[in-house]
Amino acid sequence: MGFSKDFLWGAASAAHQVEGAYLEDGKGPGIWDSLAEGHVKHSENGNVACDHYHRYKEDVALMKEMGLKAYRFSVSWPRIMPEEGVVNPKGVQFYQSLVAELVAAGIEPMCTLFHWNLPMWLHEKGGWAYEGISDAFEAYTQVVVDALSDKVSYWMTLNEPACFIGLGYITGSHAPFQSLLQDKQAMMETLPALTRNTLLAHGKAARVIRAHAKLAPKIGLALNASVYTPNENQNEAQARARTYSMERMVFSACMWMEPILNGALPEILEPVVSAAELAIIHQPLDFFGLNSYYADDYEDSTGFNPLVYPGMPRTATGWPITPDVLYWGAKFFYEKYGLPILITENGMAAYDFVMSDGKVHDPQRIEFIKGYVGGLKRAAEEGIPVLGYTYWSVMDNFEWAEGYDMRFGLIYVNYRTGERTLKDSAYWYAKLIESNGAEI
Ligand code: GCO
Repeated sequence: MGFSKDFLWGAASAAHQVEGAYLEDGKGPGIWDSLAEGHVKHSENGNVACDHYHRYKEDVALMKEMGLKAYRFSVSWPRIMPEEGVVNPKGVQFYQSLVAELVAAGIEPMCTLFHWNLPMWLHEKGGWAYEGISDAFEAYTQVVVDALSDKVSYWMTLNEPACFIGLGYITGSHAPFQSLLQDKQAMMETLPALTRNTLLAHGKAARVIRAHAKLAPKIGLALNASVYTPNENQNEAQARARTYSMERMVFSACMWMEPILNGALPEILEPVVSAAELAIIHQPLDFFGLNSYYADDYEDSTGFNPLVYPGMPRTATGWPITPDVLYWGAKFFYEKYGLPILITENGMAAYDFVMSDGKVHDPQRIEFIKGYVGGLKRAAEEGIPVLGYTYWSVMDNFEWAEGYDMRFGLIYVNYRTGERTLKDSAYWYAKLIESNGAEI
């Protein structure tokens, strides 16, 4: 047994990274629109990005050409709610049109509610440190559910809380670019509150989706959780224990999933989460969404790591290539929580360009997907329920603080003309989808 016949072969994106149209049709400013100046390579920004807001029909047609079964996109909160208490009908309309286009193309729409571009009006109240943010997220979720749930069944409340909290408020490399790293005490005081508010936002949103969605919903969130794998320094039991430990705080899956799925509070949250709040956070989910790019055993940013050797295979972002991580990630998290696994992100950046024959040859990406999806297939063959795989990303896009240099897409985007070119990997992925993964 390999992949099930309804396996969701897909690709992913996020609103701010592809849409552009940053203040058009009533959209309000978000933190990535207003605060990013001076924090992004080459002074780039997401104002135009891939112009997907205007070109979504062309983009969905390309997805159809690739034979995608699913597309994971995100809704822009400031496009839907530009100001406190204000719903922007044109913003709502855009996502209804996108979703209708996907469904007409036979592509399952998978909706992420929050992928980082927080409305400025919420940031001004304190952002994720603001007590009222979970109520605001609940109200926003209600609007999106009312608008899209007749066609959307797959919902992800939050994308990578570890990043928007950890990078946004602790290291300061992502919006709102606040850094508490230098002040350990302030960090230990603020981190629990940020985590609490985020968990409450997730819980309230999950509750709203469950109660009001028109199509029976499948609810999860997309975590970029640390995954450790067996290697010459640790056996399987040790790798599993490290994967489950909370040593990396918000970057540890269990920090989020223990309260959400088991109603169990990690120690640092005990003082800030009441029993009634925990009950809101503790909502059943339908899948475990995993964003995974490499095994954390090979992390070398913090110093000497004997597993890291000169010249080891890496992508353009410098991330090590560790194809087994999807096998171990799926296995460990299924063993721990018993939920079907959805790989909500996995992919690689390369310095792709259009070659003299007019094509984009990206053999490394083909090899990358082959290896990683091969690991996932092994998990499926062992009986672990794997729902799908949404490659990051459907097209080259605005890679946050890295700007536009890092090209993750299956579709190449010429940012001067907006022209799209399917890369070799897109044609290869189409064949892989057609064979339901048989050729791996
Ligand atoms: C993330 C985000 C994506 C990124 C991707 C590549 O994981 O950081 O979800 O928006 O673009 O992961 O870094």
